[in-house]
Amino acid sequence: MKEQLETIYKNATEDLEKASKISDIDEIRAKYLSRKGEFNEIKKNLKNLSDEDKRVIGSLANEITQKLESALKEKYSEFYRKELNAKLLTERIDITLPGKYTPVGKVHPLTTTTNEIVAIFQSLGFSVIPQEQSPEVETEYYNFDALNVPKDHPARDVQDTFYTEIAKNVVLRSQTSGAQIHAMEGKNPPIRVISPGRVYRNENINARKNNLFHQIEGLYVDKDITFGDLKGVLNEFIRIYFGSSRPTRFRSSFFPFTEPSAEVDVQCIMCEGKGCRTCSGSGWLEVLGCGMVDPNVLKVVGIDPDVYSGFAFGMGIERLAMLKYAVDDIRLFFNNDERFLKQF
Ligand code: DAH
Repeated sequence: MKEQLETIYKNATEDLEKASKISDIDEIRAKYLSRKGEFNEIKKNLKNLSDEDKRVIGSLANEITQKLESALKEKYSEFYRKELNAKLLTERIDITLPGKYTPVGKVHPLTTTTNEIVAIFQSLGFSVIPQEQSPEVETEYYNFDALNVPKDHPARDVQDTFYTEIAKNVVLRSQTSGAQIHAMEGKNPPIRVISPGRVYRNENINARKNNLFHQIEGLYVDKDITFGDLKGVLNEFIRIYFGSSRPTRFRSSFFPFTEPSAEVDVQCIMCEGKGCRTCSGSGWLEVLGCGMVDPNVLKVVGIDPDVYSGFAFGMGIERLAMLKYAVDDIRLFFNNDERFLKQF
C-alpha cells in the first residue's frame, strides 16, 4: 500500500510538471484529490489494515496528499498570475489618452434675435403666419404689384431684385412685405400677424449690406386701427427689445404700400447720440419702416378700406442684432467663423 501511495504521488508530480495552465491544475486535483480521486480510494481500504498499519499508512497518506495539495496551490497561483498578466496586457487601457471631445453647437445669433423679436410680438397679441404664406420665391405680383409698387419703381430693377429663370415674373423676394398679401387673401379682419424670413437683394456686399438677409413683417388690420395704435405697438416693442432708456423717434418717410409712412430711429448705441461713423454723424440709427396700410393694398385683397384700416411694419433682423450686440459688420453673421459665433 505504501508503494501504491508513492506511485500515485509520483504520477501526480509528473502530471503537475506537464501542467501549463489553471485548467490543468483543476484536472489534476480532480484526478487525485477529489472524493473519487485515487488517494481516496486507498484511504477507503485503510479500515482493513491492522491498527499499527492504519496509523503508519494513514499518516503517510495524509503527508503525501498535503504535499500534493500545497504543490498544486503553488502552481495554481503561479499560473493565475501568469494568466492575469497576459490578460491585463491585451486589455490594457491607456488612461493618459485624452478623452473624445464632443463639440456642442450654439444657436446662431440671428436665430436668437428672431426668436426674441417674435416672442415680443406674440406677447403683444400677434401670431406667426404659416410658412407657406411666406415663400422666398415669389411672383412680382406679391413682391410688388399687390403692394402698390409702381411698374417703373427702381426697386424692381434687376440691379436691386434677383429675377429667376423659372418665369419672367418670378423673383427671389426682396422684402417680406408680400407676406401681408398672403396673410390677407381670403381672410376677414381682424388680422394680427408677423412673418419672419429671408430676403434677397442684388447688392454690392460690404460691412452694411449682404445680398441675403432677414426681415420680420408685421400687419394689423381691423376696424378703427389708427396711427396711435402703430406708435403704441412699435414703441412697446422697442422698449422691450432695447430697454426703456434708449430714445426713439418716428420720422416721416415713404413706402408705396403705406400712407402715411414712417421710419423709426433709435439713438445710436455707439456714440449715445453724439454722432459717429456708425450713424454717419446723425446720432440716430434707422431700425424699421412702417405706416398705415394703403387703401389700394386693402382693395387688392378684397378688404373694404372704408370699413377697415390697418398698420404694417418691416424690420431688418441683422440690423437689430447688430445694434443690440454692437456687431459692426453684417458679413460676420454669414461667414460661420466659430470665433464669432461662440461669443453668443
Ligand atoms: N419692406 C420695407 C423694406 O424692405 C420695410 C417696410 C416698410 C415694411 C414699411 C412695411 C412697412 O410693412 O409698412 O424696406
